[in-house]
Amino acid sequence: MKLHASPASPYVRKVRVVAVETGLADRLELVAGELSPVKPNATLNASNPLGKIPALVLDDGTALYDSRVICEYLDTLHAGSRMFPGSGAARWTALRRQALADGILDAAVSARYETALRPEALRWADWVEGQRGKFRRALDALETEAGNFDETLDIGTIAIGCALGYLDFRYPDDGWRGRCPELAKWFDGFAARPSMKSTAPS
Ligand code: BEZ
Repeated sequence: MKLHASPASPYVRKVRVVAVETGLADRLELVAGELSPVKPNATLNASNPLGKIPALVLDDGTALYDSRVICEYLDTLHAGSRMFPGSGAARWTALRRQALADGILDAAVSARYETALRPEALRWADWVEGQRGKFRRALDALETEAGNFDETLDIGTIAIGCALGYLDFRYPDDGWRGRCPELAKWFDGFAARPSMKSTAPS
């Protein structure tokens, strides 16, 4: 299977962490391409008309996207513990946590594009602050439940780990650890997993 990827993308990282945790990493061939929201990449667009990574191309040519769909697909290919709990409260908790973590990423990546890519004269400081407000509120919400994460390994905690890793990568001055000490304690342990270490952004 070919995975359209970039070493800095936290959404790609989520897929790669799931692949490592489920023993499927060797089956993914990473395809790196030049990516920009304003410069189309024809190879990627042929797999995902939205021009977004990650996109997974199966051996029969079928393409899957986005990261949520790819992670759930990978979870059908192995016989170990499920990353997507099948039913009940565990399932809805994992999916809600994934939605919250992906929302943190959507806000953080949007603000990053605004400050790093948009021409300076067109930047909108209030909008960037609005995006930062979204991810800070979401982190505050995670802080209230981090004490319950324990050793849980599922798509919810994986997505949260990748979101926190992205904040450390692109927002090293944010200071989220000071505001969210329980979350920071949990992340210290989670970030030491081989799946997280081997997929750290660059
Ligand atoms: C980044 O460089 O911050 C980035 C790269 C790909 C997707 C999202 C973010």
